[in-house]
Amino acid sequence: MPITPERKREVPEDFDRVAPTYDLLTGLNPGYHRHLRASASRLSERRLGRQARILDLCCGTGLSTAAVRAVHPEARIVALDRSSGMLERARRKASLRDVEWVQGDATDPAAFGVEGPFDAILMAYGIRNVPDADRCLRNLRALLKPGGTLCLHEYSVADSLASRAIWEAVCLGIIIPGGLLTAGDTRIYRYLRRSVREFDGVRALEARLVRAGYVGVRTEPMDGWQRGIVHSFLARAPATES
Ligand SMILES: C[S@@+](CC[C@H](N)C(=O)[O-])C[C@H]1O[C@@H](n2cnc3c(N)ncnc32)[C@H](O)[C@@H]1O
Repeated sequence: MPITPERKREVPEDFDRVAPTYDLLTGLNPGYHRHLRASASRLSERRLGRQARILDLCCGTGLSTAAVRAVHPEARIVALDRSSGMLERARRKASLRDVEWVQGDATDPAAFGVEGPFDAILMAYGIRNVPDADRCLRNLRALLKPGGTLCLHEYSVADSLASRAIWEAVCLGIIIPGGLLTAGDTRIYRYLRRSVREFDGVRALEARLVRAGYVGVRTEPMDGWQRGIVHSFLARAPATES
């Protein structure tokens, strides 16, 4: 049976429980930070300046926010997450003190007071977890400036047998035991294994973006063990809304 919307709604609470050890576990994953910076740099061909606004959705403890800050040091950043535990960690980071933090649901950021327009939106490891991905993508398009970029930094293994096999091996051999050792809790890591297995393949997610009204949809790869597993899914809001 596929993961239900109800189960997806519990994900932020699962993250509350692992928030204290999240940075430690992701830090052990080679390429994690570099890949977030790659997606942040794919938001724009040039560094976004002080007039630009960037939204970091599902920001967690601020690791993706730090990647955005590193690549676009002058841009104004709004970062949103539903988990109070993850946000508490993010807010403590001195290097991110100028970020505007919002606790809310990524499906409809406007309902939590997030006002567009944004030059760019990064959603790292988020779209897979929202109960209604299509609705979320339509809402995000409405928050973008005409021509603004959305980057979904996300796992997608459905199109490749080899990618699925590597994902299973990494989950069973490293991520789930790592979650047990660092957090003493494997619930969110078992969900991670299953949710990635069930999530859209590359072509299905690209088609979903087109259906949600985006243009210029394309996918960029990562290097390392994540090649063929983690991708930047890039899309633009149309230059003029029809
Ligand atoms: C794997 S973490 C990613 C954090 C960060 N982007 C990074 O790259 O390290 C996923 C985050 O998504 C958040 N999340 C899950 N579902 C959400 C939702 N519906 N609305 C807002 N945040 C959500 C979780 O609380 C968690 O902090």
